[in-house]
Amino acid sequence: MRSPFDLADDTAYRAWRDAKLAAYPRSVDELVVPLADPRHLTTDEIEDLGLRCARANMAIYSAPHLPAGDKSIPKQLGQQLGLTRLEGNYLADEDGLSSITPAGEEGGARGDFIPYTHKPINWHTDGYYNTLDRRILGMTLHCAQDAEAGGENALLDHEIAYIQLRDANPDYIAALMQPDAMTIPARMDEDNVARPEQSGPVFAVDPVQGFLYMRYTARTRSIVWKDDAVTQAAVKALADILANSEYILTARLRPGMGLICNNVLHTRSGFSDSPEHRRLLYRGRYYDRLRFDSNKAPAHAA
Ligand SMILES: [Fe+2]
Repeated sequence: MRSPFDLADDTAYRAWRDAKLAAYPRSVDELVVPLADPRHLTTDEIEDLGLRCARANMAIYSAPHLPAGDKSIPKQLGQQLGLTRLEGNYLADEDGLSSITPAGEEGGARGDFIPYTHKPINWHTDGYYNTLDRRILGMTLHCAQDAEAGGENALLDHEIAYIQLRDANPDYIAALMQPDAMTIPARMDEDNVARPEQSGPVFAVDPVQGFLYMRYTARTRSIVWKDDAVTQAAVKALADILANSEYILTARLRPGMGLICNNVLHTRSGFSDSPEHRRLLYRGRYYDRLRFDSNKAPAHAA
């Protein structure tokens, strides 16, 4: 079967590329789908979410009329969309979702990791340090409480990053598909587990289903790029795309809103809190991609 990600098949790539760019949302509002009850999706709602994800590998749901702090909302929403294999880590809550909020003075281990601070987070996909057999394919972020100011998420479909990089120079794609393109040195990780050195590609194509997968971080500490000229040039070109792409969408999640995605590229801006606006997001990382099978949805109790 022909693949748009085959560097030798420019015709397949062109056709896919042109359709992808033409359909890609140019405003974050195009991603938003209001849901009556994310815990019990209707057939139409599943279709609406699926259309967004077909265009951009992500959708934003909105259910501001429900109690935003209810963790069953993102958990059950994900389950209906094929997200069942949740990655747990020792910082996650008992249900496997992580509560992303500043750790405060007595925060202990959490405060050592940037997600649990007020600091900005640069471009990355989640779990970029995981081995290929533990790839994070799906990610959800549910907003229980927004910040007083800041805390937006910039978002970019990784397929768009692939397109912009391949258009700049197909050799850059080949370089970033090398199994030793990116190396995370041996370290203690967020799970407080000692991990050996980890090498892998930035872009990979799933051998069975054919989808594109991306692992990336713009961090410069604790990451080693392959030391050849084309890889170094590719990394720089990718960073330039992420700084300037006209396709970047910026979302400010309000309470009751959330992102569902196939682990697209994202950032977080720095933010400030107040007692009434202490930013709290529930994050889920999954070994599954989103699936939109409206036939399996239970009938919505109207
Ligand atoms: Fe993230």
